[in-house]
Amino acid sequence: MTMQTNLRGRDLISLREWTREEIETVLDVAMDLKRQRALGLPHPYLRDKVLAMLFFYSSTRTRASFEAGMAQLGGHAQFIESRTTQIAHGDTAREIGEILGRYNDGIAIRHVEWGVGNQYIREVAQASRVPVLNMQCDLYHPHQVLADLLTIREKLGDPRGRTLTVSWAYAASYQKPISVPQDLVLLATRFGMHVRLVHPPEFQLMDDVLAEAAENARRSGGAFELMDDFDAGMRDSDVVYAKSWGPLLVAKDDAEGAAISARYTDWITDERRMALAGPDAIYMHPLPADRNIEVADAVIDGPHSVVYDEAENRLHVQKAVMALTMA
Ligand code: CP
Repeated sequence: MTMQTNLRGRDLISLREWTREEIETVLDVAMDLKRQRALGLPHPYLRDKVLAMLFFYSSTRTRASFEAGMAQLGGHAQFIESRTTQIAHGDTAREIGEILGRYNDGIAIRHVEWGVGNQYIREVAQASRVPVLNMQCDLYHPHQVLADLLTIREKLGDPRGRTLTVSWAYAASYQKPISVPQDLVLLATRFGMHVRLVHPPEFQLMDDVLAEAAENARRSGGAFELMDDFDAGMRDSDVVYAKSWGPLLVAKDDAEGAAISARYTDWITDERRMALAGPDAIYMHPLPADRNIEVADAVIDGPHSVVYDEAENRLHVQKAVMALTMA
C-alpha cells in the first residue's frame, strides 16, 4: 500500500474522512515511533510546537498519552479544562478555534455530550488555522480504534478474516458513549475483519454507521453480523471487545438509560464466556472498566487480556497522527 505524505494540516475528527492508505500510513509511522522509543532514540519531529488539549470530560489515558506524546516529539501540550475557562461564560466554538489556533500548532478536543460533541469539534475546526484532533466525541473515538487496530495486528497479524466480537456489557458507573463501538465496527470492517456486533435490543448504534459498516465489509471481503446473544457472539471469536455503552438512541436521560441497562446485569465477560472464544482469543477493552460488573478480574487480568498493550498503543498512534498532521 502506498504511504501518504500529504497529511500536514489535516483534521482527524472521524476516520470516515481518512482513506485506507492514510490510515495505513498512521499505523506504519506509529510502529516506527514505537521502535524508536524502545531503542531510546530521540525523535523530536515537533520541536517547539504546542498542542492545546481541551477537555469537556474526564480522562486518564487520553490526556496522559497526548501530553507524553507531545513531550517525546519535542513539543509541549497545554491542558485546558472547559470548566476552568470562560467557555461557560460565553466563549464560542468559533472563538476557541480562532484563538487557540493562533497560540498553538494543533487543537485536540474531548467533548462526549450526546448530540453536541461532534458538532462542537467541527465548529472549532472550521474556525481553526491548525489541525483539530478528536480525543473522543459523542460519535467517534478515532485514536482509540487506531490503537485497537494496531494492537490486533501486533497480536494476530493480518486482521483479514479474523472474527472480532464487539459486544455490549453491563456497567453500573455511568452511561458510556457509543463512540468506541461505532468507530470500531466502521474501522474493522474496512480491514476485512468478520465483525459481530452483539447487544440487547435497546443498545443499537446509529443507522448510518451500521449501513456503512455493512458496505465496508462487502467491499473488503469481511463480514458484518448483528446479534443479540452474548454467548453466541463469543463462540470461536479471535478478538473479544466487550464493553458497556448507554442506550443513547432510545433513553431520554441518564436515569432512564441506567434503568434500561439494569435489565442486563448478567452481560459480564467472565471466564465461562471467555472460554467460548478461541483458545488463542485476545480480550480487549479501552478502559476504564467496571471490574467484576462489566468484566471479571480473572479475564481482564488473565492470560487473554491485552489491555495494557492496547493502552500503550494510544501513545504511539497519537504521536504518529500529530507528527503527520502538525509538522
Ligand atoms: N480509553 C480512553 O479514552 O481512556 P480515558 O477516558 O481515560 O482517556
